[in-house]
Amino acid sequence: MSPRIAVYPGSFDPLHNGHLDIIDRCLPIFDEVVVAVLVNEGKKPLFTTEERVATIQELLRDRPRCRVESFSGLLVDFMDHIEARTVIRGLRAVSDFEYEFQMALMNRRLNARVETVFLMPKEDYSYLSSRLVKEVCGLGGNIEGLVPPLVLDQLHRRLRKADGGGSLPRS
Ligand code: PNS
Repeated sequence: MSPRIAVYPGSFDPLHNGHLDIIDRCLPIFDEVVVAVLVNEGKKPLFTTEERVATIQELLRDRPRCRVESFSGLLVDFMDHIEARTVIRGLRAVSDFEYEFQMALMNRRLNARVETVFLMPKEDYSYLSSRLVKEVCGLGGNIEGLVPPLVLDQLHRRLRKADGGGSLPRS
């Protein structure tokens, strides 16, 4: 039987604890989990694709059935390339549903072999997003416990650097 490979795609700019929670929920269900980092340099991410891949690799070092890859172009083409059929997406709240529903059905239309499986993160992370984490951290808020310590450190350094080395203004 071919291995059951789950592909968990996303921007991961940066990865937060809700993402890690979803990865850990995949591991008992699938033989291998591929975290697929979207190459989206055009959208000016805070971290380059290489930085995001390296960080996630480091964070998943103790999870041997996980690997990290980057991809550009259509997700379904990447899935074919690595011979995977299952896309994993996290569903945090009803507000996620419409966008996720559209993507799942479009992906299925593009490639009928691809199925999307939705997993719910731990309730503690149901409001968490990479966008909010960056915004709150950039404005001097405390995001400890919401991102892995490595990401916390990277965010502090990157956002302080963007501000010229000091803390960000509050008004
Ligand atoms: O973390 P995100 O930004 O919500 O992830 C979105 C992602 C990467 C899953 C989505 O944008 C994607 O799959 N992009 C690749 C291009 C593609 O296949 N587009 C059609 C999707 S229906």
